[in-house]
Amino acid sequence: MKLIACKDYKEMSKKAAKEILELVHSEKRCTLGLATGSTPEGVYKALVEDFNKGETSYKQVSSVNLDEYVGLTKDNPNSYHHYMKSNLFQHIDLPENQQLIPNGVANDLEVECREYEKTIAELGGVDLQLLGIGHNGHIGFNEPRTPFSSRTHVVDLAEKTRKANARFFSDITEVPAQAITMGIETIMESKKILLLISGKSKAEALSKLINGPIDESFPASILKNHPNVTIMADEEAMSLLEEEAVGRQHIL
Ligand code: F6R
Repeated sequence: MKLIACKDYKEMSKKAAKEILELVHSEKRCTLGLATGSTPEGVYKALVEDFNKGETSYKQVSSVNLDEYVGLTKDNPNSYHHYMKSNLFQHIDLPENQQLIPNGVANDLEVECREYEKTIAELGGVDLQLLGIGHNGHIGFNEPRTPFSSRTHVVDLAEKTRKANARFFSDITEVPAQAITMGIETIMESKKILLLISGKSKAEALSKLINGPIDESFPASILKNHPNVTIMADEEAMSLLEEEAVGRQHIL
């Protein structure tokens, strides 16, 4: 894994957007793996700013999102469909039929998961997967003890995750109990992974990722086995790391 130290959230977001744009400019037909939550908002803002300068087109790009809540329709303001539309899709020229997000209101969720895997495979896999990390080390909605061999599946959300995400809802009782998420193995098949970690509240997760063992109790730890992972973290997130780890480009 490569760790890129960033001063703050803004710098991290700009650097991550630059990496995505380099791919979109060099491989017009690429597949981007996208994430939701607070962490990538700055990246999407930077991508929209770049798009408005008229130098980038996403017409041949496809996107696949990591996850979606079960039971929320596309137009529900808390759905990830809605998040992606308002933060990115409505501002750029990525065709709607190339914006793929699991359908959390599908009649048969198991079929939906299998179809999602098939779609990713048909696209030739994800070229660059953007990830955030949960306080408990989750990636996508793969909570602690999800098998590393998991594919896209329906997951029961951990109480800690529902509490963390309650800030987007008017009440915690409104946070869905389940989600569809790409599996850990699905994520690991991405050609490149860009993990963003920002803020003091994520410092423990970053330190655990770097210093802890590879174990299903901390899902993100599997990323150490991936050949092409870049972590971009800001100073607050790195506050629990040893000085020398911060300067290091390669950890492990
Ligand atoms: C979102 C996702 C989650 C988030 C994680 C961090 O699509 O898959 O794993 O990346 O929960 O969320 P934030 O960025 O809100 O702290």
